[in-house]
Amino acid sequence: MPPDAARWRRFSDVFARTVEDAGYACIIPPMFEDLGVFRRLGEATDVVTKEMYDFEDKGGRHIALRPEQTASVCRAFAQHRPATPWKVWYSGPNFRYEKAQAGRYRQFDQVGIEVLGTDDPDIDVEVIFLGWDFYRRLGLSNITLMVNSLGDTTDRQRYVDALAAHFASRASTLSEEAQRTLEKNPLRVLDSKRDQDKAAVESAPLLKDFLSEDARSHFARVCEGLKELDVPFVVNDRLVRGLDYYRRTTFEYVSTALESAQNAVGGGGRYDGLVEEIGGPATHGIGFALGVDRTLLACDAEGVFPAPDASVDVFIVDVVDGRQARALTHDLRRLGFSADRAFDGRSMKSQMKAADRSGAKVAIIVGEDEASSGPCVVRRLDSSDQVVISRVDLVDYLGSLGLTPSTETA
Ligand code: HAM
Repeated sequence: MPPDAARWRRFSDVFARTVEDAGYACIIPPMFEDLGVFRRLGEATDVVTKEMYDFEDKGGRHIALRPEQTASVCRAFAQHRPATPWKVWYSGPNFRYEKAQAGRYRQFDQVGIEVLGTDDPDIDVEVIFLGWDFYRRLGLSNITLMVNSLGDTTDRQRYVDALAAHFASRASTLSEEAQRTLEKNPLRVLDSKRDQDKAAVESAPLLKDFLSEDARSHFARVCEGLKELDVPFVVNDRLVRGLDYYRRTTFEYVSTALESAQNAVGGGGRYDGLVEEIGGPATHGIGFALGVDRTLLACDAEGVFPAPDASVDVFIVDVVDGRQARALTHDLRRLGFSADRAFDGRSMKSQMKAADRSGAKVAIIVGEDEASSGPCVVRRLDSSDQVVISRVDLVDYLGSLGLTPSTETA
């Protein structure tokens, strides 16, 4: 609803400016894909097994509403093979059948970027920095950046084996939910917030002790770059993220102004095997998605990034027959002013009320005495001061009140 929708649009505009200045081009992934595209997110993730809106269409195809956009970007890359590094950004709704609550919805918006085709650690730094910088541009100051490295596939496998052995030896102490998760994906047990699982989670082996030399030096260079760019961060060994495709660098932006259950305002990481799994060539990838709804809740909590002012410059009040209002709003809009008017031949009082509601700085009042090209009455709505101005002097007079025509063209 207005004015929140205008705030949402401005959010996306600020994001576009932030990332387009860094060479990212806009991509518009489709709202639905073949189910197979999203299955690659990992059969062990809730997003795939429990939360997908999937259905058979009239042609018998099994399709799903997108739960996120990284998989679609990788599918587009595999299909069109653009030159690398391919840097793109997106914004739009995603669908997950979750338990809806404050900050967690079944339709939610994300803005995000993806870079395909480079494993240079400096691109990790660029990506993480851009998310950080965007939050700063919104005016947010209570954001904590957490980073971690999940290692390469083989490191991860060695770690998962060690974790499985660790949890299996304590299986009888784990919650039933954790025992079920353990069978599917021991990594996810680390996400358990249940008291019963706390001891086993806290004593679990750490991924950083299983990283290969390559993964270790990649991560060291990422941390070095973030320090050089003065981006404060915390290395969090327990950060595993909710999707299975991540390798090496992972990160999350957390708002300390929000309740801890829904305080992850954005996150991302490397997904070096995903394009290949979707049927494309072996390709490195990294990106992030930021939750628009949740980030705006963080903005509310910090009292920053208000909805933009939706008021018009000028409101035309025509108490004759509306013809003057029709011509004058048209002329003013063509000159680049924002202008609105009343309809339905309302009374002067009712039109003046509408003028106040519009937020306009001035009302131009056309009455019986004002001939079509004659002078008009311009009333300042903040003070009720009014002057009679000839039409030729109108633009200059509006200018003297600080109202200047917009130079933007369609
Ligand atoms: P994700 O962590 O699933 O990652 O989602 C990113 C952000 O979207 C979350 O931090 C959160 O702010 C927001 N979000 C997720 N689910 C909901 C929901 N149900 N309601 C409201 N907000 C939500 C991804 O989606 C990955 N595709 C990110 C990525 C891009 N990784 C690499 N590239």
